[in-house]
Amino acid sequence: KFAAGILGTGSYVPEKVLTNSDLEKMVDTSDEWITTRTGIKERRIADPSQAASDLGIEAARKALEDAKIAPSEIDMIIVATVTPDMNFPSTACIIQANLGASNAAAFDISVGCSGFIYGLAIAQQFVETGMYNKILVIGAETLSKITNWKDRNTCVLFGDGAGAAVVGRVESGYGILSTYLGADGTGGKHLYIPAGGSRMPASEETVKKNLHTIFMEGQEVFKFAVKVMDSATIEALNRCGLKPEDIDMLIPHQANTRIIEAARKRLKLSDDKVYINLDKYGNTSAASVAIALDEAYRKGLIKKGDIILTVAFGAGLTWGSSVIKW
Ligand code: ACO
Repeated sequence: KFAAGILGTGSYVPEKVLTNSDLEKMVDTSDEWITTRTGIKERRIADPSQAASDLGIEAARKALEDAKIAPSEIDMIIVATVTPDMNFPSTACIIQANLGASNAAAFDISVGCSGFIYGLAIAQQFVETGMYNKILVIGAETLSKITNWKDRNTCVLFGDGAGAAVVGRVESGYGILSTYLGADGTGGKHLYIPAGGSRMPASEETVKKNLHTIFMEGQEVFKFAVKVMDSATIEALNRCGLKPEDIDMLIPHQANTRIIEAARKRLKLSDDKVYINLDKYGNTSAASVAIALDEAYRKGLIKKGDIILTVAFGAGLTWGSSVIKW
């Protein structure tokens, strides 16, 4: 068995900033409510011409540059997204073509906000068995395109962006030490898009009723998130024989500071061991952990040998966590 780790990271967010005060002009909300309930101050919004693949490819290019590898060296591209360019072909195939990664297999995964951690876990398996050497894992989202901009319960939460990592062989003892993935489909009804699939195909009526946007029972998702952040972090640590005090940096899904704060306290971590950027980007779903990981690394907050714990929860409902020795 080979050791699988991260050889390079990259991220990209669109230029346009939408602040809480901008939102005050769009729905009945306030900067005070959004800040105290979520921690979010602003988020990035994709240009009308930008689809998920456009954001993903920017992040991917930076990750390839960081890993110092050429597109032709990539064996597989995995894109985690709930906002694919279209139902098919996959966003991964679109990125494969635009990158010129002609030797890569490519597919998307739909795991909501846990998608990037699921993607890392899939890549880990292929690298550990020796079947593949270099795998590009991308989380890319344009949630602004599936947001109901008249619904104050959801429109204040989300943002657009992409993050990427190249997974490949690393020195023995380093890399992804453990992974824990899970799902509870019975909770799927708390966070979903009703129409546009084979259950309720797009029609004039579904468009009129706004059924192509996110429906969420915020409190149900909140309760689930706090519970699962706790169990998933502990399980990933147990699986590689580590303890909360071994963590150098927690990279959590960036949905809500109150959810992250509950996890931080439970793990007894100091503030500087938890990376938070949701104030700038909001919840970018599958891109969130990937962007946070890239930012923390580029700011020099992650050094060789550090123990990183990533954890996320999302639509499905799903969750995932992994311990990485950098
Ligand atoms: N501005 C002002 N008031 C608001 C807003 C808003 N933007 N949104 C809701 N309210 C009101 C509600 O209508 C409610 O008013 P009422 O008491 O008169 O009915 C009041 O504020 C309280 O609402 P709650 O839903 O109880 O607020 P809560 O403290 O639960 O916070 C929140 C809501 C932020 C959505 C929280 O539940 C949460 O973060 N949940 C998790 C959501 C999440 O992480 N989702 C993403 C999952 S990932 C994925 O896969 C996309």
